[in-house]
Amino acid sequence: MYTTHKQFWTLVILMYLTTVSPSVVVREIPSDKAAKVGDLETVLKCTVSTMGPHLVTWTRDGLPLSSNKKVAEERTDKYSIRDSYDLVVKNVKLNDAGRYACNQNLPDTKYIGIAELNVYDEIVCLDNVIHKKENDTIFLTCSTNFAGGDKYTPEFAWEINEKPIASVTQVESQIGVTKNVSSGTSLVAMSDMNGSILTCKYEIVTESGDVMMKDQCRYSIAVQYEARKPSILIDSDDVTDLEISHDLNKHLTLTCSSNGNPAPNYTWTYKPLPRNGNQEIERVEKASDSGVLVLGNVTRNNSGIYTCEAFNIHNRGIVRSEVTLMIRDPCE
Ligand SMILES: *[C@@H]1O[C@H](CO)[C@@H](O)[C@H](O)[C@H]1NC(C)=O
Ligand SMILES: *[C@@H]1O[C@H](CO)[C@@H](O)[C@H](O)[C@H]1NC(C)=O
Ligand SMILES: *[C@@H]1O[C@H](CO)[C@@H](O)[C@H](O)[C@H]1NC(C)=O
Ligand SMILES: *[C@@H]1O[C@H](CO)[C@@H](O)[C@H](O)[C@H]1NC(C)=O
Ligand SMILES: *[C@@H]1O[C@H](CO)[C@@H](O)[C@H](O)[C@H]1NC(C)=O
Ligand SMILES: *[C@@H]1O[C@H](CO)[C@@H](O)[C@H](O)[C@H]1NC(C)=O
Repeated sequence: MYTTHKQFWTLVILMYLTTVSPSVVVREIPSDKAAKVGDLETVLKCTVSTMGPHLVTWTRDGLPLSSNKKVAEERTDKYSIRDSYDLVVKNVKLNDAGRYACNQNLPDTKYIGIAELNVYDEIVCLDNVIHKKENDTIFLTCSTNFAGGDKYTPEFAWEINEKPIASVTQVESQIGVTKNVSSGTSLVAMSDMNGSILTCKYEIVTESGDVMMKDQCRYSIAVQYEARKPSILIDSDDVTDLEISHDLNKHLTLTCSSNGNPAPNYTWTYKPLPRNGNQEIERVEKASDSGVLVLGNVTRNNSGIYTCEAFNIHNRGIVRSEVTLMIRDPCE
């Protein structure tokens, strides 16, 4: 504390004794800035250290905004000056975009620097979940309004599960400097896209690589498709459309599984094998509505053809698989 005071007074005395010429030392020059519509404020830097009489002003497209800390009365709801002499732009709107210059008018006249303020509106997205049927076309757009420099115009990029996909971007001028930037993509809904995340995004990066502004739309894709030909499993062995032998008096469970969205339902049917010519009539019975058919301890009478059908609301034809079971006595 003591030292600081001492240094301070030493400085004051030095300034008094020496004839110091008034000066403005620029600490930070204005640089281009990005803001979102609705931001309570955005700050354009013009940081200077001053000594003696000085005048630092901000102008926008040549028109004066401020003199040192003072902002013209009718503009105080829009601008204020913070520290020496950053410009605060309040309640950001698209029409605040423009070129703001910070100037030194005293002790001598010079131009300190210029900042381009770029203003971005919220990106416009559709519903979060896109419901489609297999082979439907998914056509999506996203758009935003933007006002600012050409090099800061958003460029949308689309990705599905973080992999880039093709898109078309369109930039249309609207009122004054405002531009409507929209981008669209189109793809065919495939069953393996169910649950995928589709994004439309942009990122504005400065020359030094800092991200000034970014935004994105995120869509989740739900693709419905018909039940596929099912697989039949015994334990974890795939026995689809095979003929297999199984020991007598051993527990047996048949599992049928198919892909489909919504999740498929299943029907099992059983047809005994004609044996010794005494079973001429085919017997068909509905065995189970779930994919799992528990036969329990099997007897010879369980020998036969087991057929599983899988279906959901999208199936037009029937998809089925079968397994032929031969129950044998391991002692024979
Ligand atoms: C979708 O297209 C594929 C390939 O053309 C075709 O195999 C499939 O049957 C189609 N699915 C539907 C539900 O139309
Ligand atoms: C941009 O223009 C397109 C096509 O005219 C329109 O659908 C979209 O809503 C506009 N976007 C914004 C953010 O106004
Ligand atoms: C489809 O995606 C949804 C959402 O991710 C998921 O809950 C569902 O299990 C998926 N269905 C199929 C059959 O893949
Ligand atoms: C299945 O058969 C075996 C051998 O005959 C017997 O030990 C077992 O208890 C039976 N299990 C059931 C559930 O009936
Ligand atoms: C098998 O079926 C035959 C005729 O339907 C019946 O007579 C016999 O008792 C059955 N055997 C067993 C082990 O269930
Ligand atoms: C599948 O089963 C569920 C539950 O039993 C039922 O609500 C649904 O309607 C069935 N779907 C079809 C396509 O039969």
